[in-house]
Amino acid sequence: MIYLDNAATSFPKPEPVYRGMEDFVRASGANPGRGGHRRAVEAEAMINDTRRLLARLLGCARPERIVFGHNATDGLNMAIKGVLRQGDHAITSVLEHNSVSRPLNRIEKDGVITLTRLPATADHLIDPDEVARAFRNNTRLVALTHASNVTGTIQPIAAIGRIARERDALLLVDAAQSAGVVPIDFDNDRVDLLAFTGHKGLLGPTGTGGLVVGERVTVRPWREGGTGGDSTRPVQPEEFPHRLEGGTPNVFGIAGLREGARVLLKRGVETVLPHERGLIRVFLTSLKRPERLSWYGADRVIADRNGEGRVGLVSTNVAGFAPAEVGAILDEQFDIAVRPGLHCAPYAHQHLGTFPQGTVRLSVGILTTADDMRQAAVALDEITAS
Ligand SMILES: Cc1ncc(COP(=O)(O)O)c(C=O)c1O
Repeated sequence: MIYLDNAATSFPKPEPVYRGMEDFVRASGANPGRGGHRRAVEAEAMINDTRRLLARLLGCARPERIVFGHNATDGLNMAIKGVLRQGDHAITSVLEHNSVSRPLNRIEKDGVITLTRLPATADHLIDPDEVARAFRNNTRLVALTHASNVTGTIQPIAAIGRIARERDALLLVDAAQSAGVVPIDFDNDRVDLLAFTGHKGLLGPTGTGGLVVGERVTVRPWREGGTGGDSTRPVQPEEFPHRLEGGTPNVFGIAGLREGARVLLKRGVETVLPHERGLIRVFLTSLKRPERLSWYGADRVIADRNGEGRVGLVSTNVAGFAPAEVGAILDEQFDIAVRPGLHCAPYAHQHLGTFPQGTVRLSVGILTTADDMRQAAVALDEITAS
């Protein structure tokens, strides 16, 4: 199968990820910290080593501020529900995944916050000036995606971080599509909270991810419980990472994520985006009839056959076919896996005019090859010719 659904989860994983998980499950497999025996200490050390590697990848000087959870959704919920209080105002955008929109919508509906949802520009970007204009006296949080999972556009988070910092508000970045793909500088870009998922660009298994918490942020823990350490305190300890890490972590998953992070650090994250853009370019230049497809969020990519400012995904539609039909044809007749539909981002599709059917999304990863892209182009040419 040609796998072009890496924006959903990266597949296959690099070999060391599989090996790292198996070795850990067989050789150690203990509950970190809890026992005080050698294997428990080893598990704790492995998790802390993973924190250090992720801190290097994400530009965060304090590894203990990297909190593990289940995925990006978990990190986003921890941040949104742990930071916003009664009477606060939050700013978000139409480009968000439901893992940002739904928690915000929920607490808005419950009367806790007021919410401004910014439109995107014709280039599918969030304009920092619009963000600045949306501020109110009670704005506590700006919650934005770093790279849209529908249009692929990379948002100007450093400029928005500056604006939020000047106004004493917090910037929460959803890095689900960018961590491990776009170089991230958490400290210098003035990001306060960054949610990451371990199973996409970071190359780890599903069930891994979490939140990076900046030093000026106070996040109320919502998942409280055992931390494997001091059990005498009646409530969750204040210290990071335990403050937000109640319960046994996904030790096996984190063992895989550690290897994913090592692969990326060895290769250099700065090489990933050029590789992905190169693949998108191969796909677009291999298509015989690109004009027979509609392109969403890839206007410039099509115009100059370049992918500047975008991660490695394209959204398209074939006239006369529902996105789900194209997805099924690619799967059943060409053995190509893509993702049709709304991609959990209904507002983004409203912005594109593709709601409620959505688009067909092709997304590449570090193990995708140029030949995969040429075959995808042949398949789409055959569909548009039919
Ligand atoms: C932009 C964006 N945010 C958040 C998520 C949620 O990630 P997870 O399912 O790992 O929680 C995704 C996943 O597709 C995404 O693309």
